[in-house]
Amino acid sequence: MSDSVKYLLDESRIPKFWYNIVADLPSPPPPVLHPGTLQPVVPSDLEPLFPLSIIMQETATERDIEIPEPVRDIYRQWRPSPLFRARRLEKALATPARIYYKYEGVSPAGSHKPNTAIPQAFYNKEAGIKRITTETGAGQWGSSLAFAGALFGIDIQVFMVRVSYQQKPYRRALMETYGAQCIASPSPDTESGRAILAKNPEHLGSLGIAISEAVEIAGQRDDTNYALGSVLNHVLLHQTVVGLEAMAQMEMADDYPDVIVGCTGGGSNFAGIVFPFLGAQLRGGRQARIVAVEPIACPSLTRGKYAYDFGDTAHLTPLTKMHTLGSTFTPPGFHAGGLRYHGMAPLVSHVKELGLIEAKAYHQKTCFEAGVQFARTEGILPAPEANHAVRGAIDEALRCKEEGVSRSILFNLCGHGHFDMQAYMDYFAGKLVDQNYDPAELAMALAGLPSVSAI
Ligand SMILES: Cc1ncc(COP(=O)(O)O)c(C=O)c1O
Repeated sequence: MSDSVKYLLDESRIPKFWYNIVADLPSPPPPVLHPGTLQPVVPSDLEPLFPLSIIMQETATERDIEIPEPVRDIYRQWRPSPLFRARRLEKALATPARIYYKYEGVSPAGSHKPNTAIPQAFYNKEAGIKRITTETGAGQWGSSLAFAGALFGIDIQVFMVRVSYQQKPYRRALMETYGAQCIASPSPDTESGRAILAKNPEHLGSLGIAISEAVEIAGQRDDTNYALGSVLNHVLLHQTVVGLEAMAQMEMADDYPDVIVGCTGGGSNFAGIVFPFLGAQLRGGRQARIVAVEPIACPSLTRGKYAYDFGDTAHLTPLTKMHTLGSTFTPPGFHAGGLRYHGMAPLVSHVKELGLIEAKAYHQKTCFEAGVQFARTEGILPAPEANHAVRGAIDEALRCKEEGVSRSILFNLCGHGHFDMQAYMDYFAGKLVDQNYDPAELAMALAGLPSVSAI
């Protein structure tokens, strides 16, 4: 086995194809439904929001989907990203486990999000689109699309969840530096925003509300489309570059993961690292235990219902079958803003239903504790979202120690936390509280799920 600390691939090893797990699943995921007719959506239903090439990727069934050369060319700016062996963390934990992490914080925006922002901007540019609207929670996705917009000459308008807008002014400054416009959501600029503000002018916002605002604006103009930073099949597809590279890098390390861990907000970085390995497993390859980690305050996979639901609060999107807390559910304003989404990617939900993955939930303080231990050993300060994966990986390593077993653990360190220092300051000042969701609100949101009895 190799004794290296990092495993680096040459630019020529950037994957030429994304991996589509739909080709290898034992059963296809349930169809996306039109909210009016409750019939499966057809491409023309989605055309007001997305270019046709993205719509075709959303429903694609072939295993390998070619990455356009101009996208690969931009990927070269930071890809292939490094895979590290966390030797110092292993030592600090005194664990026999072998811990590996794929580091996506090397991208210009600081996370995995540009992996999909670049192709989404590329396909929109090809379709002649001048402006893209979007939502952002942590600010990572908004920054990534802003960066992509700058490269392709597309105007970007970002609705940023109000609590994150207040917590992270420098994320907004980064988006503006890339030339994007960033608006706190709920905003007075849209009908959906005004309806929320009329009931509660101090509303903290949620990803579901920000999506409604962005979709509403995109639907109003032919030259404007909408882009989503997670959840949808094409986003998960684009993120598979992470896992495809990690497979080659694990081979360089002469090792194979026994356990793979990722944090889940909408499911894209998790799917990115996991799906290529899961696909290999479904085709008869080696088995790995796969663990999704989410916040207790917004536990869609561990507490949500597997049901058809809207992707947004104002019910402007199609219906997807997913683990959901209900589209009107507003999670508490904890610091991992990217994990404050009421639903989970339909593909991640589907593999959970098939019993192919596990899920667990943590409170935020234990995740920050893990992030600080990681920073003090490996030197990289993780994003609050990524701290959930760090916690999950450390717990797996501690289990190896208890059991006296040396397993190989791979996790996705999906972003750095350099714009999240207020969260770390709050943690050190003892101001972080472990919030629980309001059970009454969850019950109310679940009671409001659309009734889709035909499917
Ligand atoms: C660093 C980081 N990790 C994770 C997430 C959660 O999204 P996903 O589950 O799609 O990876 C976000 C979302 O904003 C993020 O910024």
